[in-house]
Amino acid sequence: MTQPAGRFARVGFDFRDTRVLVTGGTRGIGRAIAQAFTAAGAEVLITGSAAAASAYEDLSAGVTYHQLRLTERDDIARLAASFDRLDVLVNNAGGTGGAATPYDFDTALAVNLGSVYHLSSALADALAGSRLEGGAAVVNTASEMSLFASPYFPGYGAAKAGIVQLTRTFCALLAPRGVRVNAVLPGSVPTPMTSAFADDPAVHAMVSAATPLQRWGAPEEIAAAVLFLASPAASFISGHTLVVDGGYSVSK
Ligand SMILES: NC(=O)c1ccc[n+]([C@@H]2O[C@H](COP(=O)([O-])OP(=O)(O)OC[C@H]3O[C@@H](n4cnc5c(N)ncnc54)[C@H](OP(=O)(O)O)[C@@H]3O)[C@@H](O)[C@H]2O)c1
Repeated sequence: MTQPAGRFARVGFDFRDTRVLVTGGTRGIGRAIAQAFTAAGAEVLITGSAAAASAYEDLSAGVTYHQLRLTERDDIARLAASFDRLDVLVNNAGGTGGAATPYDFDTALAVNLGSVYHLSSALADALAGSRLEGGAAVVNTASEMSLFASPYFPGYGAAKAGIVQLTRTFCALLAPRGVRVNAVLPGSVPTPMTSAFADDPAVHAMVSAATPLQRWGAPEEIAAAVLFLASPAASFISGHTLVVDGGYSVSK
């Protein structure tokens, strides 16, 4: 089955007068999220690990770049201090460290879980100052490895399971301040992070066969779920983890 990427242009969201921060917006799923918010009229800021935007060949048009090394508390503090108001925070950045060189356990937790805790905490006041209809929104990024054993990436799996719990905790913490907090849980999506698997025809076919919809997801399909959770259409949804995996997790 082919990817239905063209359909997403027909789903309308209006994020005019909305300031959105997407961590890890330089490529992959984060890039698609940033582009979807830009297309919906938002002011979009993205982060990456490099010192300057010039390090990237093809950053999305219309976004503002900030450096945010996920394990550097000074970067988090500096970035948070640059916001007096923030409407949407998408904690997307993360990764395994690579198929051949996975992060050690502590680093995986710091990159994928600690960063989300520290950045969300540092931006709580700016989010509470949002005027977004339906309240400000935080959307975190979990993984199938939040649900299933992760023998190759134990730290990544533990961190992504922690994201589900942290989403519930921040829901409770920030609700009194008018901020909703949810998570998306993507299935397999071809990106630079997953290229070692997605580019292997045998693995690609195996994942498709194990997925009821018989294919991998597209970054734009994860972005669509993020925009929904951030939008006023989800104004009574908080503490939820939305699985976007073509049915993989209910058929495994
Ligand atoms: N692709 C999938 O199948 C899949 C499935 C489930 C969950 N996810 C999750 O979805 C999110 C995006 O994944 P992706 O596949 O789009 O990955 P990707 O293509 O590797 O992109 C990762 C992004 O995060 C940034 N990043 C990673 N580590 C960083 C660090 N230590 N410091 C600063 N920035 C860092 C990267 O910035 P630079 O460009 O500067 O390195 C890049 O913008 C991740 O949280 C991932 O765990 C992905």
